Parts: sequence; structure tokens; C-alpha cells
Amino acid sequence: MSPWRLFAVWLLAEGAWCASELKFPPGFKFGAATSAYQIEGAWNASGKSPSTWDTITHTRPHHIIDQSSGDIACDSYNQWKEDIKIASDLGLDFYRFSISWPRLLPTGFPDAINEDGRRYYDNLINGLLEMGIEPMVTMYHWDLPQRLQNLGGWANPKVVEWFEDYARVLYKLYGDRVKTWITINEPFSMCTLGYAMVAFSAGVTDQDVGTYLCIKNVVMAHSKAWRLYDRDFRNKFGGRVGIANQLFYLKPATKEDEEIASLGHEFFYGLYSHPMYSKEGGWPAGIERVIEQNSKKAGFARSRLPPFTDEEKEIARGAYDFYGFNYYSSRIIRRRGDEEDLLARSPFKNIRELNAILEVDPTWKKSSSFWFYVYPPGMRKLLSWVKDQYGDVEIVITENGYSSTGTELNDIDRIKYYRDHLEQVLLAIHKDKVNITGYTAWSLIDNFEWNEGYSTKFGLYEVNFNDPKRTRTARDSAKYYKNVIKTNDIEIPKSFNIISDEL
Ligand code: NOJ
Repeated sequence: MSPWRLFAVWLLAEGAWCASELKFPPGFKFGAATSAYQIEGAWNASGKSPSTWDTITHTRPHHIIDQSSGDIACDSYNQWKEDIKIASDLGLDFYRFSISWPRLLPTGFPDAINEDGRRYYDNLINGLLEMGIEPMVTMYHWDLPQRLQNLGGWANPKVVEWFEDYARVLYKLYGDRVKTWITINEPFSMCTLGYAMVAFSAGVTDQDVGTYLCIKNVVMAHSKAWRLYDRDFRNKFGGRVGIANQLFYLKPATKEDEEIASLGHEFFYGLYSHPMYSKEGGWPAGIERVIEQNSKKAGFARSRLPPFTDEEKEIARGAYDFYGFNYYSSRIIRRRGDEEDLLARSPFKNIRELNAILEVDPTWKKSSSFWFYVYPPGMRKLLSWVKDQYGDVEIVITENGYSSTGTELNDIDRIKYYRDHLEQVLLAIHKDKVNITGYTAWSLIDNFEWNEGYSTKFGLYEVNFNDPKRTRTARDSAKYYKNVIKTNDIEIPKSFNIISDEL
């Protein structure tokens, strides 16, 4: 073979092409996302009952960096028409938002539907459809009715039934118009982070036991809500239901750390995915073994990870229509040295169950969020991880975005973040043949960033939190994203005048 031909074969095999020449395939959809507690405000308006986040912000404000709350947030409860307008200006194919469980069902149960809450989401959905934007609806984005938390929340197996009942109400009310449902947003954040960090929990921290009760209940709640749709609503409405996982790529520090990295992925996402997406179902075997051994060693009578009954395993297995994929950041993982302290309880710094340390590469740029370091290749690696684990499942990227202090409209770093991550998505599609059908920017607008309050901003649109109308103004990243959607070209137009090349 001539050297040129060899070179051409290498080029094709390695995918060493210029990603900027790659395009998103026909039918690929672009969207942007928000969630109820982070944007709606109106925390006690028109019959809404308090959620766990109302409780956290009102009773433990010291857990929020700036002691703020989502009481008013972006006032989207009143300004929802503005949100639709900017979603339409961007040219979005879909808008991902969440429904507040305590706004719709203030008792937590379907015995009383709050009419104002019902109407609010009805108007939002209809308004989007009128503008040609598909609603993608998250049923649960962390704002549990406080009453259900008082009854044990996600650690009580009854939550599976409570969630299924809530899902039934949603399908009945909105299923004729909502064709893409996400049951639960980032169970990793709810269970793995939530039960480990007091600042992120609904008042209960119990990393050793609570985390695993939460994980099992999330898996079953999602699966039962999926089965319900499949059985009673799919024929009528023809929609689809998935769950949105948050994934950190765990890069092995050395060759010897590859095994711990693979266990780390099983621990962080396998627990939330394997029961539904793997052929065999059930917990990922490696991590199931580790938790069982650790439990025994510590003197527990049984594994802290609750087992599935055969029936539960079958309910979960195959309970999905797509894989929702949230990606922001990565970590380097290594085994903890003998003499090393594992004092830091933060799940961003270690995985106690695995005796593993999580670190960051000093060359990774830090965003304005304490946990967020930029490593674009991690996104592609994880997209491939999902494919390697679960086959050719359809992946919808349900979140990706960058945080800054938000004072600037000329948000070059955010634009670069989007560009570099979209490039990884293109490479995953074209080179790794991962079946990705959509991409969602987080977030449409600046909003309440949980424990970081308003100190860090993710919006394509800036929100003026000093203005009672919470005016929204496009950042340059909004213009960039609009251009990507319009031209199917991820490169940053020359007119954006990028000088810094740090990212
Ligand atoms: C994931 C969560 O779903 C969202 O609520 C949060 O604001 C973003 N990540 C950024 O941290």
C-alpha cells in the first residue's frame, strides 16, 4: 500500500479529522434546561406547599453560600412568557423544565390537585407548543413535598408508590402534549451527594445506609413510573420516558488505578443505570460485592445495599426509552495510600466505600463553582462508557454547561466550554458511533444554584436579580448557541472576538 493510502486509512481509522467539519446528524435536536425550584419563585403562592428546599433555605440558610433562597428566584411563575420568548429567540427545538410536585399536589398525594399549579404548567406547555418548541418535562428535580420528607422521603420504600401516583397524575394531565418525560434528575446528586453532605441533604445525612436506601428507591420509582407509562399511556400518547444521570468521568491516575476507576464508575452511575439498562439487570456485580464485603467487615448483619427481589429486578430491567446524560466535570481517581488520611468527607474528594481519592489535574480550568473543573474529553469517554456498558441505547444529553460569576455579558469562557464539549459530542457520534440524538444546554437563564445560591451563574441569559421583573438579557453564549442551532457549525464566529485561549 502506498504511504498516502496508508495515511488515508489511518486518518479514517483514528478519526483524525477536524471536528469542526463534522455536523450533527439530521433530526438531532437542541434544547436548554431549567428546574422548578431554581427558577419559579412563588414558593408559597396559590396553594403550593413547602418543599424540602423551602425548608433548607428557610431553616438552615447558613448552608447556602449567600444565604439566599428560591423564594422569588427568576419569578418564572409570573414571567414564564419571557422564558418562552427567549427559548424561541434561540431557535430551540425543545425546552426542558421540571414540575414542582408540591405546587401540583400540595399534600404530596393525588387526593388534591392544586388548580393554579395545574393551570400554570398547562399554560407553559401550551405556550411552548404554540411557538413550535417541544416540552421535555422532568417530573422530579429535587423539590420533594416536605410532608413526604417527614415520612422518610427517598429512604422510605413507600416513596416508590408515592412517585408512581404522582407520575400517573402527570401523564393524565399533560401526556397528550408532553412526549418526552424524565422521571428523576440526577439521582447521584440526590442519593450519593445528598446523603453524604449536610449542605445538600433534606436534613438527613447517612452516607453508609441512607445513600443505598435512596438508590434502590430511586431505581424502583423510576422503573414503576416507566412501566405505568408503558402499560397505560404509551399506546394513546406515543411518548417516551427516561431518567437523567449526572456523570463525572473518573480518569485513572496510573495504569494500576484502572480497576478502581472502573469500580468508581459503577459506584457513581452503574448503581443508577445497570438495573434498567444492562441486559442482565440488577446491581453491577463488582460494586455489589464490595458493598457487601464492607458491610460484613463492619459488623452489619446484611449488605447495606438492599437486594432486589426477582420481581423487582424484572420491573427495573429494560425500563427505559432513552438514557438522559448530564455532564459537567471530571476527576482523577487513585487508590488511597496506606498512610493517607481520608478525612475529607466530601464525595467530590473521595469515595469512601472504595477507599479511593478523587483529585483534579492542575491544568484543568476551574469554573466559578467549587466542584467544577473543565475537562472536555471526559464527556466523550463517558458517552462511550454508556455505549460499552449498555449497547446502542439512545442517549439524550440532558444537561451540559458552564458556570461563571455572571457579571459579564461577554462570556467567552462559557462559549469556549460549549464549543469544546459540542466537539466531543460530534466525535462521539461520528468516531465512536454513539447514538446521541439531542443536546441540552444548562441553563436557559441564570438561576438559584442550590448551595451556591446566586454566587455562580449558568445562564445563556443573564437575569437581573435586582429588578422586580427579573429582566433577562442575552449573553454572547446565547448568540453562539443560537448560531450553532441555526448553522449546524460549532466553530466560534470571528465576530465574537475571542482573545484568551486558556480554556
Ligand atoms: C445539575 C442539576 O441538575 C442542576 O439543577 C444544576 O443547576 C446543574 N447541575 C449545575 O450545577
